[in-house]
Amino acid sequence: MTTKRAYIETYGCQMNISDTELMHGILGEHGYASAETPEEADVILVNTCAIRDHAEQRVIGRIGQLQQYRGGERNVLVGVTGCMAQRMGSDLLDRSGGVDLVMGPDGYRKLPETLRSLWKEDEPKVEAPVAPAAPPARSSGLSGGLTVLDFDPLENYEGVRARRTSAVSAWVPIQRGCNHRCTYCIVPYVRGGEKNRDAREVLDEVRALAEDGIPEVTLLGQTVNSYVAGDWDFPRLLRAVARVDGIRRVRFTSPHPNDFSRELVEVMATEPHVCDQLHLPVQSGHDRTLKRMLRRYTVDAFHEKVAWVREAIPHIALSTDIIVGFPGETDEEYEATLDLMREVRFDDAFLYKYSLRDGTPATRLPEDQFVPGEVAQARLERLIELHREIQKEINVAQVGKVEEVLVERPARRGGLQGRTDGNKVVVFEGPASLIGGFERVRLTSTTGATFAGERCSIDEVARVA
Ligand code: SAH
Ligand code: SF4
Ligand code: F3S
Repeated sequence: MTTKRAYIETYGCQMNISDTELMHGILGEHGYASAETPEEADVILVNTCAIRDHAEQRVIGRIGQLQQYRGGERNVLVGVTGCMAQRMGSDLLDRSGGVDLVMGPDGYRKLPETLRSLWKEDEPKVEAPVAPAAPPARSSGLSGGLTVLDFDPLENYEGVRARRTSAVSAWVPIQRGCNHRCTYCIVPYVRGGEKNRDAREVLDEVRALAEDGIPEVTLLGQTVNSYVAGDWDFPRLLRAVARVDGIRRVRFTSPHPNDFSRELVEVMATEPHVCDQLHLPVQSGHDRTLKRMLRRYTVDAFHEKVAWVREAIPHIALSTDIIVGFPGETDEEYEATLDLMREVRFDDAFLYKYSLRDGTPATRLPEDQFVPGEVAQARLERLIELHREIQKEINVAQVGKVEEVLVERPARRGGLQGRTDGNKVVVFEGPASLIGGFERVRLTSTTGATFAGERCSIDEVARVA
């Protein structure tokens, strides 16, 4: 039998990128090779995101395109995995006009056996979703595909060796699911409750990565800093990871402001290998909106946490997520978000227009309070403009500085691309042999968001060091 090949296309957040690496790992253990393109694959999986409607629509279009590869001489299978698969279930089998498999994020261990059964069986077999607190399932189960949608409160993919795509930087999931119920958010319904991995397993994985020569890890979880497993909490785990021999950079995403403690700041400030970068999603700059979002903190509390971290690490690079046009957001509340942006001055910000997600609590807010699409769009555009201005001012002031850059890959338009400790992208000239190493690079100009730079000469390196 020839080796079967799996092609997985990934959408959504870092957790999904990491899940794709797990799926390749699971399939790899069963003899599958990874395919670089859908043309050469025996199984094509689309690992999807459900966070916003726009993301889902794009993916539905893409699934339609990929269906052209289905069947044929090799009986190529097309499947949908991830959060949208969990959300839409067998509805997706029907809607997209024919896929072979719909599998949620807790099912990946079953991929090899499911594919085997699909290749052998023609009979439709639809398992009903057993999804605690899931939005109402609208499954018809009419199509000939297979759905695997059960939540598994114990599934942490322990023991699975991910097949990693980068030899420079690794995603390390330490937590799956989420125990919060932010009223706009679909994640708890498609990924279930919070599950934390055993700290020793995490540390073993990080040690193995370091032995493979990977210098940077990013610890992942939806509320990564609420991590707790036995005697281990997040600050303790972060410190231990940062002290693994060979690991030179540790990042983590996303912390929830409520669990952002002084103790965590202390670890960030005292462990040299924890990067001077923090992504702290604020979502809104007004208490009333925050309350309706069920974020459980106030604007003042957020400012206080920013002050803690800036006091301990003055040059820290801060980033955030913000949603505009949340149901009931008034002009005044929106203006408060602009004020917060002006006050905090984030190095980076991911800015979104509220997207209604079926089954989430915000859908039950009074309909007459919903913000019209064009108002939300205008709010988003103004916020983006403000963010870009601030980001440019911050970055222009950094031109001339020398930064240690972890070289990640060839840049798209020639040269090399890497990141600073503060997670800023720098493009500079140099041989490909530098990839995977650290280089001292002087920032020579900025586009506003990213930098161009040049490598320091040996003399300069000595002077700076
Ligand atoms: N667990 C992370 C967020 C994961 S989703 C956290 O709590 O920070 C990433 C971002 O998508 C969120 O921070 C939020 O800003 C945005 N988002 C989530 N649901 C959304 C929705 N329904 N509409 C628009 N943006 C949304
Ligand atoms: Fe969604 Fe809130 Fe959980 Fe983040 S903390 S994943 S925004 S419910
Ligand atoms: Fe999207 Fe799922 Fe991540 S909904 S943002 S891929 S957890």
